[in-house]
Amino acid sequence: SRSDKGGYPFYMEKEIMEQPRVIGETVKPRIKDGKPDFTAEGIPDEMLASCRRICVIACGTAMHAGLVGKSLIQSLIGIHVDVVMASEFMYNDPIVDKTTLVIAISQSGETIDTLEALKFARKCGSPSISIVNVKGASIARASEYVIYTNAGPEIAVASTKAYTTQLAVLYLLTARMAIARKLWSDEQMKEYMEELQRVPAVMEEVLKSKEEIHHIADTMLNARDVFMIGRGLDYSILLEGSLKLKEISYIHSEAYASGELKHGTIALITEETPVIAVVTQDKLKSKELSNIKEVQSRGARVILLIKGQEELEQEKIWSRIFRLPVMKDEFMVMPVSIVLQLIAYYVSLDKGLDVDKPRNLAKVVTVE
Ligand code: G6P
Repeated sequence: SRSDKGGYPFYMEKEIMEQPRVIGETVKPRIKDGKPDFTAEGIPDEMLASCRRICVIACGTAMHAGLVGKSLIQSLIGIHVDVVMASEFMYNDPIVDKTTLVIAISQSGETIDTLEALKFARKCGSPSISIVNVKGASIARASEYVIYTNAGPEIAVASTKAYTTQLAVLYLLTARMAIARKLWSDEQMKEYMEELQRVPAVMEEVLKSKEEIHHIADTMLNARDVFMIGRGLDYSILLEGSLKLKEISYIHSEAYASGELKHGTIALITEETPVIAVVTQDKLKSKELSNIKEVQSRGARVILLIKGQEELEQEKIWSRIFRLPVMKDEFMVMPVSIVLQLIAYYVSLDKGLDVDKPRNLAKVVTVE
């Protein structure tokens, strides 16, 4: 009933709206004296300091969270990170050993592929941490250490709050690695942790614009394909945004790294194809804007999600624009994820589909 759904027509909307709160509940208990703290989880700094590489194992949305984690850890800590789809892990003769920290990410904690890959890595001697939402789940029990996301029960098949709380944990873990490895100045740590704690308020700000996002979604109702383009972290978040859209709206959608456009997808962009372009990373901005111009000149209908209010020098390259609240670049995936979740939600809702129970998909997958 609507009351279980907090007055919303679907769980997905309720779960989207809960994100500022559950992110706060995931982050706050793990900050002591302004610093990330995993003493409650028992995670030794020694483990974070000594690993030589990291291997993230996960499926679906959780795997997309891993991709953001990879960016953060490689750029802020300087350790090599592989993100492996758990379902593929065993087919590439995985190279993991005691110097490889394995991070298994799973909302349910029951995905069989992730569980099997984790068990294999542990047999090879890898230290392990899992990031799980469901207390006491198999993956939590099979790993050495577990960090719970405090998202609460997620009922909609399409994952929203589990994903953003997984990201929140990855932000904390990155900062704890910086402490374990003595990498950042006090000032850098302070700024980073303050920014992390600002995420709920920034998300609220985006949620207040939900009607504006609803209008943008309505321009896509009759689309056959929707492309999404971006670079770096913007690309990682678009992979998740594209998955959300195809899962619940049944519109074919593909996220494409902008630099790869000319190697393929641009051939598919014709008059009126909606293209969602995300521009939040200062150092990638000028390259990204020229990619947008390329697709626009082929007639694409560009929906631009861009950080800040700054005037763009380029002539009008978008047909719709959404201005994102400003955070430090590495945190921009948080506000962007809300916009993409709401776009997928409203497209599905306005097509009259069963948002919470898309055809053929299951919330928990326990078959290989
Ligand atoms: C299923 C769900 C996805 C989820 C994936 C991994 O396919 O439909 O939403 O991302 O499993 O689930 P997990 O529980 O391991 O995060």
